[in-house]
Amino acid sequence: MNAGLRLLRSTTPAPRRLARVAAWSAVECLPALVSGVSVAHAVDALVAGRPSAATLWLGAIAVAMVVGAAATRRLYAAMSPLVEDLRDGLMTATVRGTLAECARTGRPGAATVTQTIEQVDQVRNLVSAVLRSFRSTVVPLATACVGLLLLDNRLGLAVLVPLAAALALQSLLVPRTVRRQRRAALEQEAFGADTAAVLADLPALRGLGADAWGRKRLLAGADSVAAAELRVVRTTALRQSVIALGAHIPLLSVLLVSLPLLRDGSLSAGAVIGATTYVLTVLAPAVSSFVAVSGGWVVELVVLLDRLALVAGRPGPESRDARTPSRPTQGYAVELRGLAFAYRPESRPVLTGLDLQVRRGEHVAVLGASGTGKSTLARLVAGLETPTGGTVHASERLCFVPQEAYVFAGTLRENLLHLAPTADDDRLREALEVFGLAGLGDRLGGLDGEIRSRDERLTAADRQRVVLARAWLSPADVVVLDEATSLLPVGDDEAIEAAFTAGGRTLVTIAHRVDVAGRADTVVFFDGSSVHTGRHVDLLDGHGAYRDLHSHAALYAH
Ligand SMILES: Nc1ncnc2c1ncn2[C@@H]1O[C@H](COP(=O)(O)OP(=O)(O)OP(=O)(O)O)[C@@H](O)[C@H]1O
Ligand SMILES: [Mg+2]
Repeated sequence: MNAGLRLLRSTTPAPRRLARVAAWSAVECLPALVSGVSVAHAVDALVAGRPSAATLWLGAIAVAMVVGAAATRRLYAAMSPLVEDLRDGLMTATVRGTLAECARTGRPGAATVTQTIEQVDQVRNLVSAVLRSFRSTVVPLATACVGLLLLDNRLGLAVLVPLAAALALQSLLVPRTVRRQRRAALEQEAFGADTAAVLADLPALRGLGADAWGRKRLLAGADSVAAAELRVVRTTALRQSVIALGAHIPLLSVLLVSLPLLRDGSLSAGAVIGATTYVLTVLAPAVSSFVAVSGGWVVELVVLLDRLALVAGRPGPESRDARTPSRPTQGYAVELRGLAFAYRPESRPVLTGLDLQVRRGEHVAVLGASGTGKSTLARLVAGLETPTGGTVHASERLCFVPQEAYVFAGTLRENLLHLAPTADDDRLREALEVFGLAGLGDRLGGLDGEIRSRDERLTAADRQRVVLARAWLSPADVVVLDEATSLLPVGDDEAIEAAFTAGGRTLVTIAHRVDVAGRADTVVFFDGSSVHTGRHVDLLDGHGAYRDLHSHAALYAH
């Protein structure tokens, strides 16, 4: 069973509620069950010259309809708590997972939680729509089959064989559509990420043939999305064959089987009319609706649940503590062995078998074009992602500064002390000095000045400085900076790196400016297809793409 369906099952409401819905659904189908049999008997009674008996049989349909309508009323009341229970269960699991993720990455959670809530509501609406549609398809289908068998088992078989073939074909098509739909969603996601990456790189590479490069990359992405969508449409087109097999062939086979039986007198005209009533009024609409719902809403639901299962499956902060971080060998701050990672089983792997040893006090620069995997590596080192292969050993006292600078509402002091509650005022003032925050401190009215949410007195660069100062004050002996100085003036990088490494700390910088490579002890270079590690001078000598990166950057700088 896939992760999405497991998540749905884990939040399934009380069996009593399910049983109540099933029971009222069965009663609701009484008119469908009675219709064919009553029509058959009414016709035969009329042919035999007994109009009062025919009227009674037709009256039975009317009574069944009244009972069915009362059951429908009860059914809606029984279904509502079922769907709401499911929504509550899903909401608890997924919002908890989302908050755990936000707590670990330090990212603001409001937008992510809102998105999760919207997706859970979408699941609730889809489940409710699927339940309502299945109620009006699966139960009538079963009813029509029982009615046909009661009427005449030869006619029953004539319908059951093509119907069973249609259902078998549909049960093969649905998982295939889910796989193709999921693939198409992943292609769309990757295309979106790629477009953002290309647009971000273009200004820096303009004049170096970047326009043609960007166009080629985007066209390749668009082609992949189109090919994936086409595969979905092809599977969808096969639905028509299921409808023909399950809704049209049964009518034909009832007529074909009836002709010889009518001739030899072993079948009454009423039974034939009753059987066609079942096929035309119950079976055919139910098959069409079943195919549309199982190939449409159900597929959408499974794909959506898969995504929510990823969110719900994220371990909470408590399980991170439980997972004792494995320590690196003596003398090393970080050790990666055969590290492999892919965001999803179907996605292209971001890392395949990376080995890296970072000595204590070493400065490592990570370079590469957008989307090649630098942040993913940083998140793996920080323990925010779990490797799909190999091992990560890192010092326990590691501070990760993500690409987004998160300053929270509170005083400047609270923001700075977040990871170092015992730092004294002298140390805080030193941090303000080192990270160029003295001006901001004055503007806010000192360390106890309040920073409001979305405070316009703070520029984006100020936020980066606050976050850097917070990391510098922390007791971490390994600091991982993911493009954390991207908005600061060019000259500031070197001083900031020096401030971090001065105390013998290990520093890993995901670089947005390539000159950091010249100051680092080791460079990790993502060239788009593989990862190379070594000293800056050795990579310049031995790697063409690395040399190109530096010459492009030099050209751009001029
Ligand atoms: N949460 C995610 N789910 C699925 N794919 C992701 C996710 N985050 C990143 N990716 C994909 O993984 C690949 C590596 O992304 P990553 O963010 O590590 O690149 P990067 O080198 O840091 O790029 P940038 O320089 O733009 O920050 C990209 O193809 C990206 O689309
Ligand atoms: Mg990144």
